[in-house]
Amino acid sequence: MSDSQSTNTMRDEEYRGRLDLKLWGRIFGHTRPYLKQVIGLGGSGILLAGVETVTPSLVGLVIDEASMNGMTGRLVTYGVLYAAMLLFMCYLIWYFIVMAGQVVTGVGFDLRRKGFERLQELSFSYYDRHSVGWLVSRLTSDCSKLSSLMPWFCLDICWGLSLLCGITTAMLFRNWQLALMVLAIVPPLCIVTAFFQMRLLGTSRNMRRTNSMITSSFNEAIMGIRTTKALVREEANLDEFQVLSTKMHDYSFRNALHSAAYLPMVITLGSLGVGLALWRGGFLYDSAAAARTLGVSDAEGTLTLGTLIAFMQYAALFYMPIQELAQRFTDVQNAQAAAERVQSLLDTVPEIQDTPEVLAAIASSNGNGDSSMPLDGGDEVIKSIEFRNVSFWYKEGESVLDNFNFRVHAGQTIALVGATGGGKSTIVSLAARFYEPCSGEVLISGVDYRERSLHWLQSNLGVVLQAPHLFSGTIRDNIRYGRLEATDAQVEEAARMVNAHEFIMEMDEGYGSEVGEGGTLLSTGQRQLVSLARAVLADPQIFIMDEATSSVDTETERLIQSAIEAVLCGRISFVIAHRLSTIQRADVILVIEAGRITEQGSHEELMNKRGRYYTLYTRQFSREREASVLESSENGRSA
Ligand SMILES: Nc1ncnc2c1ncn2[C@@H]1O[C@H](COP(=O)(O)OP(=O)(O)OP(=O)(O)O)[C@@H](O)[C@H]1O
Ligand SMILES: [Mg+2]
Repeated sequence: MSDSQSTNTMRDEEYRGRLDLKLWGRIFGHTRPYLKQVIGLGGSGILLAGVETVTPSLVGLVIDEASMNGMTGRLVTYGVLYAAMLLFMCYLIWYFIVMAGQVVTGVGFDLRRKGFERLQELSFSYYDRHSVGWLVSRLTSDCSKLSSLMPWFCLDICWGLSLLCGITTAMLFRNWQLALMVLAIVPPLCIVTAFFQMRLLGTSRNMRRTNSMITSSFNEAIMGIRTTKALVREEANLDEFQVLSTKMHDYSFRNALHSAAYLPMVITLGSLGVGLALWRGGFLYDSAAAARTLGVSDAEGTLTLGTLIAFMQYAALFYMPIQELAQRFTDVQNAQAAAERVQSLLDTVPEIQDTPEVLAAIASSNGNGDSSMPLDGGDEVIKSIEFRNVSFWYKEGESVLDNFNFRVHAGQTIALVGATGGGKSTIVSLAARFYEPCSGEVLISGVDYRERSLHWLQSNLGVVLQAPHLFSGTIRDNIRYGRLEATDAQVEEAARMVNAHEFIMEMDEGYGSEVGEGGTLLSTGQRQLVSLARAVLADPQIFIMDEATSSVDTETERLIQSAIEAVLCGRISFVIAHRLSTIQRADVILVIEAGRITEQGSHEELMNKRGRYYTLYTRQFSREREASVLESSENGRSA
């Protein structure tokens, strides 16, 4: 697990702030489209509590009726009423499960969709700060956790509070002395609940934090399995994993222990309430019965057997809502970190986006503003790109480009060469507006690109990287990715142009062959060729090739070279290559060292200058020549 990732995880999981009501207000705001269902849930909770409050009284009435008047016709009425209440309860349970299901799936769907939409809009800098695993967890487990928590919280709050109020009122109404006796169990019940819930909260947080670390370990172990095996790190990795696993075991054990201790204690307290009701109620009932036998009117003689049994049932019911309410509040506290992470993802404003002026210009040129190709009123054709006094850093204080200036015109190919880490990829990322300058400007046809539509610029880009990403699907789908309306013939033409056709036709399914997740079924060189074909087919005005053919053999590269030159004609192209033989024909070569241009000119000019480029080129050239001499002599020997 990388440092930043582990820090992220620790910070997230150690989030122990108080209940943030404002945050939860916003989270519960996501249930607004399902208001009908939420009201249904609350309503069914209250009705269910009503039925549960009435049932013990009804049982009491039946007992009194039977013991005083024997089997009468009223008993049948009570029986029918009881059955109707049971049926109604069944209906309520069915209803709230359906309502909760609708809210869980609906809110889950909305949160994931909004999160995915936001991820598509966010700038590269956001991805620099957040790992893939972290983001995937936000969209999967956090969204599920929140969407399943909300409906049950609403239901249980309404049900629990109503039931507590209902039982208390019913008991006080029937016999206030006995009621106070039963209510005596409430304070110890609350204390025990608070004590155990706090402990459960602590252990479950520790479990989650350790679980995140275990997930990361799995992730790293699977991704880096080749390196692990190559460096024989299996034993060491297993030892590291064992530490985490043991921690997880300890926390889980403690959590199970607390749960196991909590429930019997709560049930015991509930039974204590029943016992109190029976003990005190027994006395009352006894004295009332004696008074009745003697024909004496007794002040306390109103307690009947039915009332006593109803009280016992109320006492047995009391701990349930308290336990459920405590559980829901613990769930909310447990999920606060998830709520904070999901809401912060949704609230993140992309660092790079169209300014209000550009959006207004797009809206006025498009009428309704939702055209797939926003025309912002500016020039459609890109005539030049200019870096003017551009400085840039990824992290404050660690400058990557410093006061960088150059200009390129349509039809020109700019080659960027220089030592690793010099800033070449950063320059093309700035040209593509994947990042924006920290100071200075990038001008497109003389206009600061922040005054133009981002979508317009990026839909005119063709980018091919050293490690291109292919999407699961066929080779044909991948080439067509940037221009969905292209015909099969156009796809094939693009593939032929970059010399990819031959290897594609050698595959079992030709253009219909699957590339696997991320293109893993193809070699890196083949992925580069597919990616080049994709860029050629998209027909962009700006072509960016960052080590685009570095994994292709020199012969194929030479063949592609001439085809690419035809494609690049009339466009602006940036070519980054460590193999200098591939950029000799570039119009301008920039030698980049530590974020500055140290030399600039055509190949001939720079060779004549006998500076840095000359040294790099001659060294590489002699190495390549030595390699080819060695190869041909080996070939001769084997022949
Ligand atoms: N996303 C990033 N976040 C932070 N720093 C970065 C990031 N990308 C690059 N850097 C840093 O910026 C500097 C320039 O990197 P850049 O990738 O532009 O170099 P480069 O010239 O393309 O190197 P190479 O030839 O190896 O591809 C390096 O010091 C690098 O560590
Ligand atoms: Mg680079």
